[in-house]
Amino acid sequence: MLATPLKYTDEVAKSTAPIYETLKSQYKEDHWKTLAPYIHEINKLKAQKNAVILAHNYMTPDIFYGIGDVVGDSLKLAQEAAKSDADMIIQCGVHFMAETSKILCPEKKVIIPDMQAGCSLAESITAEGLRAMKAQYPGIPVITYVNTSADVKAESDVCCTSSNALKIVNALGAQGHDTVIMTPDKFLAQNVAAQTDVKVIFWEGTCMVHERFTAEDVRQMRAQHEGVVVLAHPECPPEVMAEADYAGSTAQMDDYIKDKQPKKAVLYTECSMSDNIAASNPNVELIGTCQMCPHMKRISLPKVLKALQTEGPEVTVDPAIIERARKPIERMLELS
Ligand code: 13P
Ligand code: SF4
Repeated sequence: MLATPLKYTDEVAKSTAPIYETLKSQYKEDHWKTLAPYIHEINKLKAQKNAVILAHNYMTPDIFYGIGDVVGDSLKLAQEAAKSDADMIIQCGVHFMAETSKILCPEKKVIIPDMQAGCSLAESITAEGLRAMKAQYPGIPVITYVNTSADVKAESDVCCTSSNALKIVNALGAQGHDTVIMTPDKFLAQNVAAQTDVKVIFWEGTCMVHERFTAEDVRQMRAQHEGVVVLAHPECPPEVMAEADYAGSTAQMDDYIKDKQPKKAVLYTECSMSDNIAASNPNVELIGTCQMCPHMKRISLPKVLKALQTEGPEVTVDPAIIERARKPIERMLELS
């Protein structure tokens, strides 16, 4: 049986009016009237249950602006999870992000609205695979991208995100390591290696979204849009980075647009990110790139509401793994 759609009442209209003011450019009124009742209901329920909603920059604007209490890149979501005094965390993002929150806050209930929201990078490596790589390079420290399972983190010396990868590699370099292993994103590793003297050995994983961009895409974009400023996520291939004006994590790209206010910009990253930036930077023309992460797009307002109502599905991690995976994450947070 189909659930009865929620109603767009005067109360809903009033409570969501300030949000719609920001999102008018993204949703026509009829569409908005189907979203606003969910936003209203979710915000009421999360206050009653002392839940915090952590929303990644790739969430659609209705989630990002409508219900997110903390919004940002992987690093910020992890930092805020560690500080939060909520009883429950609703992770609007993918599974590895929810696991990271659970590792940092084992006493809290951590819920992900769709358990199938995975990540091609996290799926590219297992703890067993990493153990075999470590055996091949004994004594070389392992830097693991947060886009991995808790089991893989537990085998690592330090974690990193796209915003601090170079810093972490250089920090190990300063401690006397001339070589490091970076897992699992080969492009992030290659992009970092191009900026440091530390030798980087990498795993062969890729992001299914960012690997699709090419240098030719960027050249065509510049030919079609004169003066466009090109920003790229470091999960893109090195040939894309070589053509870009700026490279950074999702939050760093957001900050760049906020600060520099270019007339026209394009972001080589997941497409909702451009929508979210466009909503709060009306003077910047954002050219969409239309690469969508199917995992991030599993999270929707109806699923978030259901997750809050049923307090599930809950993300759990074996306490012994939490113990071991916590160290590399905390080491990263210290070095950030
Ligand atoms: P950020 O850490 O830059 O938010 O990236 C996370 C991610 O999954 C990018 O694809
Ligand atoms: Fe993983 Fe790529 Fe999706 Fe980010 S965009 S969650 S790296 S598949």
